[in-house]
Amino acid sequence: MRAQRSKEQAARYAASLVEPGMTVGLGSGSTAELAVRALAERVRSGLRIVTVATSRRTARLARRVGLELREPEEVERIDLAIDGADEVEERSLALLKGRGGALVREKLVARLAARVVIVVDETKLVPQLGTRHPVPVEVVPFGWSWCARWLEEMGGHVVLRRREDGRPFRSDNGNVILDAWFGPIAEPQQLAEAVKRLPGVVDHGLFLDLADLVVVGSPSAVRLLSAASK
Ligand code: A5P
Repeated sequence: MRAQRSKEQAARYAASLVEPGMTVGLGSGSTAELAVRALAERVRSGLRIVTVATSRRTARLARRVGLELREPEEVERIDLAIDGADEVEERSLALLKGRGGALVREKLVARLAARVVIVVDETKLVPQLGTRHPVPVEVVPFGWSWCARWLEEMGGHVVLRRREDGRPFRSDNGNVILDAWFGPIAEPQQLAEAVKRLPGVVDHGLFLDLADLVVVGSPSAVRLLSAASK
């Protein structure tokens, strides 16, 4: 209940930052979905925007609540992206994302966006990334077990993400996800670069230098953490 109200506060605040005529990136996950709903309310009251979604699930929600959706190829700029995160390093605003499996599209949208606003509740703040969650790594299905071995050699404990029925989880891009537990990560930049260099890796959930503003919701207010420069 507390978490839900906190997420709602953050989502509403982020939606209030959207201005008429903007192209808005819609994130994935429960908090980003609340922002989609808050945006839809504003659209019903007359706000005109177009949107691009970071997952099929978010796209379905956006359509259902009446937002105008564009395909990525139709979009040359994104003015503002609103997304959630699994962990936020308060000092640097570095993020860990991808628990929902949408990290590849989320990173593409964040990279294109002029401004990235992250919506979280207080439980997502950590002193160091990796404190509570693994680093999700999206890899092509061919040779995934080799990628897992290379990640293990880099110090991670690697688990192939599975669906509830036991079958390997597949991302919207048709790939599998390796959840690599490294524990608290002292040098995220170094790890990010090393993981990205592995053949077969499409991308990973370390989002460094991408967040411009983190909106931390609590049940009755929000706290804003902003990056000096992107
Ligand atoms: C989706 O792949 C993720 O990056 C989500 O944005 C992240 O897991 C946060 O989701 P919640 O808002 O549901 O915690």
